[in-house]
Amino acid sequence: MKTDVTYNQMVDEDSRRQGCSRRARLDSRCWIALASLACVLVAAVVLYRFLTPPASSDHPASVASRLGEKLESCSDPCRIVLVESIPEGLEFNSSSNPSIFQAWSRLMSEARSSVDIASFYWTLTNEDTGTHEPTASQGEEVLKRLAELSGKLDVRIAVDLQGGKPQADLTLLRDSGAAIRTVDMRALTSGVLHTKFWVVDKKHIYIGSANMDWRSLTQVKELGAVVYNCSCLAADLEKIFEAYWLVGESESIPSPWPSSFSTLYNKDTPLQLPLNSTPSSVYLSSSPPSFCAAGRTPDLQSILSVMDDAEKFIYIAVMNYLPTTEFTHPKRYWADIDTQLRRSAFEKRVGVRLLISCWPNSPPVMFPFLKSLSSVHDSKNKLDIQVRLFVVPADPRQKQIPYARVNHNKYMVTDKVAYIGTSNWSGDYFLNTAGSALVVNQTGSQSPDPSVQSQLKAVFDRDWHSAYSTPVTHSSNLKNLCMRSIAPTPQIQPREEL
Ligand SMILES: *[C@@H]1O[C@H](CO)[C@@H](O)[C@H](O)[C@H]1NC(C)=O
Ligand SMILES: *[C@@H]1O[C@H](CO)[C@@H](O)[C@H](O)[C@H]1NC(C)=O
Ligand SMILES: *[C@@H]1O[C@H](CO)[C@@H](O)[C@H](O)[C@H]1NC(C)=O
Ligand SMILES: *[C@@H]1O[C@H](CO)[C@@H](O)[C@H](O)[C@H]1NC(C)=O
Repeated sequence: MKTDVTYNQMVDEDSRRQGCSRRARLDSRCWIALASLACVLVAAVVLYRFLTPPASSDHPASVASRLGEKLESCSDPCRIVLVESIPEGLEFNSSSNPSIFQAWSRLMSEARSSVDIASFYWTLTNEDTGTHEPTASQGEEVLKRLAELSGKLDVRIAVDLQGGKPQADLTLLRDSGAAIRTVDMRALTSGVLHTKFWVVDKKHIYIGSANMDWRSLTQVKELGAVVYNCSCLAADLEKIFEAYWLVGESESIPSPWPSSFSTLYNKDTPLQLPLNSTPSSVYLSSSPPSFCAAGRTPDLQSILSVMDDAEKFIYIAVMNYLPTTEFTHPKRYWADIDTQLRRSAFEKRVGVRLLISCWPNSPPVMFPFLKSLSSVHDSKNKLDIQVRLFVVPADPRQKQIPYARVNHNKYMVTDKVAYIGTSNWSGDYFLNTAGSALVVNQTGSQSPDPSVQSQLKAVFDRDWHSAYSTPVTHSSNLKNLCMRSIAPTPQIQPREEL
């Protein structure tokens, strides 16, 4: 498989397609041809690196030298695990994945040299929320251990300026030795830094929907992925972190971005690596477009291309879904994703399922648009868009917890690909808010192990068929449904965003 990994990165898409189909790859003549081709290319890359001075621009020389670096570091046996926070009290028939708390704990215990965290806001203790919730203990432990690490390792935190309040957690971490930069996304793009990921020792990563909030571990439903021992993927995510780190200081967005932020890995030329011993194509997308250095696929393009690639189904689980912007003045109609879903349903007869969250803070205008989508359902014409709402129930005590008890997942799974993101699905998140996503494609692999795609589909199916999901029909009284879960008079200042 190593050879495969190597040549895939160097041979361009077309010659790869024409040269060796998957069946032909098994043909030994083909292997020999490829091996020689790979040797020639490796020699060429090595020669090129020797003969050209280090380039500082996007000149092919710098691309080639980066390619060389990547090839060396990509021998790591990357291990990916889907991780979830299942709110206290939720029960499912089928088993769940390891928890996000376990993943973060593991990352902290693995950390030897550095921890970089991109975050929206921090509130890991009861103190910040003014609650006395025993379920805050996991968040409190995460904060304590991060503070310990901050004294020993290189800990860097990028946080949104608006989201950076309340300050207590960040003050503790700074006093313990962490370097913290606030990113004033409102001033830069009229958005927020909404990204949530970790890069540990430039080798392990976490990315997903969970905020640095104790509720994200025990009271809000979240999904993410952790990838261990994967320095080539970590190096690429680190570039996105370094971009936040840079603008946190410079307070302006470089244009163009310096070449050190460029990437070779995107929707057209994904990184080829073994994930759980399965050959995989992987890339990271990012938003907003002004934060995408050369080569980076903007998050919206990534979503649209994943949808476009689907042949059988597109299953989406996001907190909010709106074919509009939410935070611009005035609000705009923004139907890029909505149109693509209707197009896929009509032109390719792809089955589309949307599992959207519903809680007292759901924007009311979301519901007519969801009803509209769900009306594109007609078996005679083979139109099959279905929408369901997921409600996280709350007992009287849980109802007292402000801004909790909601499904905050942000992912999509098609018959081919798993997409794990950090953004709500409305215009703002792709136009001016910072977010990122991991796209995993194992379509070509014949591994006996369950693919990431099939694991993510199992999560979707579990939730879709659970007692917590309700179909949206034209006559549904959605307001009542969504209010059912609630009634907290928030004890703290309502937070505008989760
Ligand atoms: C990373 O790889 C090393 C060496 O194979 C292994 O001992 C370690 O357990 C791996 N780490 C994780 C978190 O899987
Ligand atoms: C996934 O990989 C297959 C096979 O390599 C490719 O044809 C397809 O375009 C990829 N899909 C996406 C969304 O990248
Ligand atoms: C468990 O499965 C049964 C049968 O499919 C279903 O009726 C029930 O609602 C499920 N329970 C939960 C908690 O999802
Ligand atoms: C998603 O959108 C809702 C409604 O606008 C907002 O309350 C929530 O904070 C957003 N969640 C994010 C930003 O993930």
